Amino acid sequence: MNNPLPNKKLVARSFGNAAAQYDDVAVLQRQTGDELLERLSLVTLQPETVLDLGVGTGRNLTLLAKKYPKAKLVAVDIATDMIRQARSNYQQARGLKRWLPNATKPMYLAGDAENLPLADNSVDLVFANLTLQWCDPRTSFAEIQRVLRPNGLLMFTSLGPDTLTELRQAWASVDNYSHVNMFYDMHDVGEAMMEARLAEPVLDTDIYTLTYETSMALMKDLKVLGASNVNSDRRRGLTGKRALEIVAQSYEQFRNDGLLPATYEVVYGHAWGGQPQFKQAQQNSDGEVRISVNQIKGRKAL
Ligand SMILES: C[S@@+](CC[C@H](N)C(=O)[O-])C[C@H]1O[C@@H](n2cnc3c(N)ncnc32)[C@H](O)[C@@H]1O
Repeated sequence: MNNPLPNKKLVARSFGNAAAQYDDVAVLQRQTGDELLERLSLVTLQPETVLDLGVGTGRNLTLLAKKYPKAKLVAVDIATDMIRQARSNYQQARGLKRWLPNATKPMYLAGDAENLPLADNSVDLVFANLTLQWCDPRTSFAEIQRVLRPNGLLMFTSLGPDTLTELRQAWASVDNYSHVNMFYDMHDVGEAMMEARLAEPVLDTDIYTLTYETSMALMKDLKVLGASNVNSDRRRGLTGKRALEIVAQSYEQFRNDGLLPATYEVVYGHAWGGQPQFKQAQQNSDGEVRISVNQIKGRKAL
C-alpha cells in the first residue's frame, strides 16, 4: 500500500475553491450518494448520532436528516468553505421546517478524517460519500473505528485505481509524471479496514462511465469539482498548451459513438464498529480476540 498521499493543504484549498460551483457538476457524487442511501434503507438502524464525513455541499446531509429525523447530525469537512456551503444549503433545503420544535440542527466542524474532532464511541452511523479516497486508508479507518459506537455502522464510497484510466493514459503520452490522482484498490482498502479492526467489512466495486464532448470539458469538470491532482508527489511536468493538445489528441483513441468516456471505479463499502470487548481486546493487545456468538448474531444483515 504505497500510493502517494494527498497533500492536505491542497485538498482543502482545491475543494474550498470548488464549493460554490460543485453542485453544478457533481453528477457521479449524486449517483453514488443515492446508492449509499438506498443501501442504508436495507439496514434497521435508529442512529442517535450520524456523521456525514466529508460533507461537501451538504446534499446528503439533508437527505440523512429526512431519513433519520430524530438523529443528531454532525458534518465534518477539511474545507471550511465546503462547511459554509453545506450549512447554507441545509438551511435552504429545510426551509421553514428548521424552525419546528425538535428540528435537527446539525453541528458543523472543520476537521480531518484522519484526526476526527470527535470523542471515542460517539457516533452510530458514519456516512462518507467519495471522501475517503482523499485520505490515508489506515489512519482514516482507525479514526472511524475510534469514533464509532459498538454496533455503529460505517457506509462509504471511495474511488479505485481504474478511475480516470483514459485520462491517465492520455497524459502518459506527454510525460511520465503523475497528472491524475492515484487511488487505492479494493484489496488495500479491505486490508486497512481489517487492520483498523472494523467488524465484518464488505466491499464491492461498480464501474460508472461519464461521457464528454471533449477531454477539455472533462478536465474543466474535474477542476470545478475540486478533484484536480492533489497527490503529494505530483510533479508539474509539461502542463502548457502544447501538453494539453497532446492529451486531447491521445484521448481521441477512446472516442466511442461520438463521445469521450471517463471511467470511474467506485468502491462501495460498509463495516461495523467493534464490540466493546473487541475494542478492549485491541487495547490490551494480548494477541487474542474473542467475540461471543451472541454478539455476532446481534449484528443486522445488510
Ligand atoms: C468529492 S467531495 C464529496 C462531498 C460529499 N460527500 C458528496 O457526496 O457530495 C469530497 C469531500 O471530502 C472532503 N475531504 C477531502 N479530504 C478530507 C479529509 N481528510 N477530511 C475531511 N474531509 C475531506 C473535501 O473537502 C470534499 O468536500
